[in-house]
Amino acid sequence: MGLQQVSLNLNVRGLEKSATLAINERVAELKASGREIYSFGLGQSPFPVPDCVVEALKTHAHEKDYLPVQGLPELCTSVAEFHRREDGVNIQPDNVMIGPGSKELMFLLQLAFYGDILIPAPCWVSYIPQAQIIGRKVTLIETSYENRWTLSPQALEAQCAAENDHNKPRLLILNYPSNPYGDGNNVEELMQIAEIARKYNIIILSDEIYGQTNHQGKHVSIARYYPEGTIISAGLSKWCGAGGWRLGTFSFPANLKWLLNALVVVASETYTSVSAPIQYASIVAFNESEEINHYLRHSRRVLDALGQWIIRQLTQAQVRIHPVAGAFYIFPDFEYYRALLAEQGIDNSVDLCERILEDTGVAALPGYAFGRPKNELNIRMAYVNFDGAKALKSSEKTPWDRVLDDAFLEQNCPLVMTGIRKLIHWLSSLDNK
Ligand SMILES: Cc1ncc(COP(=O)(O)O)c(C=O)c1O
Repeated sequence: MGLQQVSLNLNVRGLEKSATLAINERVAELKASGREIYSFGLGQSPFPVPDCVVEALKTHAHEKDYLPVQGLPELCTSVAEFHRREDGVNIQPDNVMIGPGSKELMFLLQLAFYGDILIPAPCWVSYIPQAQIIGRKVTLIETSYENRWTLSPQALEAQCAAENDHNKPRLLILNYPSNPYGDGNNVEELMQIAEIARKYNIIILSDEIYGQTNHQGKHVSIARYYPEGTIISAGLSKWCGAGGWRLGTFSFPANLKWLLNALVVVASETYTSVSAPIQYASIVAFNESEEINHYLRHSRRVLDALGQWIIRQLTQAQVRIHPVAGAFYIFPDFEYYRALLAEQGIDNSVDLCERILEDTGVAALPGYAFGRPKNELNIRMAYVNFDGAKALKSSEKTPWDRVLDDAFLEQNCPLVMTGIRKLIHWLSSLDNK
């Protein structure tokens, strides 16, 4: 067999180079040529890892042994307790699995679970490529701006009913607060989705990696309403500012233990176990403490104030956008500007992002990368380009009953504000181009 044929046997054939990569490469070129870039591309927490968690990592740096594949038992207990406390869900410690990031655990799940994958779009960039690599069938469920981009229970019911096979194995991936739009289904809708999942025996992977970043601290897990069929995905990457530590968690209901066991088999033949010092340190992050609560209160407060400011500015500029409930993303839609953009030769989200970057230095990602049709005019912006440590300190100094006003934001998040202003100025100048 020639090399050509060998490459045709690759599992990843047909996968496109990611739309996000193209933007990142252009950003690097522009930066190298001295251009000021307003980065809204990378979805990484701006806040530092809380001191108590860093100290715990130092204390456990000497831990050198391989840990059990499923995870350090004390950490599994802390995670189960965390979900009991924060989500009101009864998880047994031996139904928790620790992985090197929730992304890897999702890949293992898609590999071990033999069935169709249902995903409401827009959705996080990696779900679909993971399914494609493994060869699973993905069905995207349509959402709309009018429906706040969330999964409508009716659309889920229609999708399942249309297939005429009640017990077909299906995995529904829900993510809230969402990357890319910072919101999710309300409680009423979660309850309806839970009922439909129960009716069709759907397993739900509830990606709650941003749960603790709910700006009001009011995250509600769908596992409350569908405990027997929900796997909760969480981890340290977002609310604890520790994306690079690579620690994710899956919490299974007791009756899906067979699935957990299958994931453990694959993990044992691939990554073995997560780094020992990181697992020991993570216990401190999941256990309740005044320091962690304090850190969360202030980080939510900053994200909330900044998110609200951005939404106000964009709404005034006729950009279609919904309030955000959590995380640090917005998903603005520029449909109002379609005719003016068309005059500039822009009729899709990829060209829109490229042109915004060229003309203003604002780097965002096209809605197309998040599973939306390419001809829509939506983009994802992560509002994290500020010094999170400084912002936390400033918030601590601001009395709790005072809102974090524009002056606070000017001082602590100037690049985000300038980027938004540049984008709005660009839109208003479309008329005169
Ligand atoms: C929605 C969503 N889920 C999961 C992940 C993966 O997180 P990690 O692998 O760091 O746990 C991310 C990271 O960006 C994300 O945005």
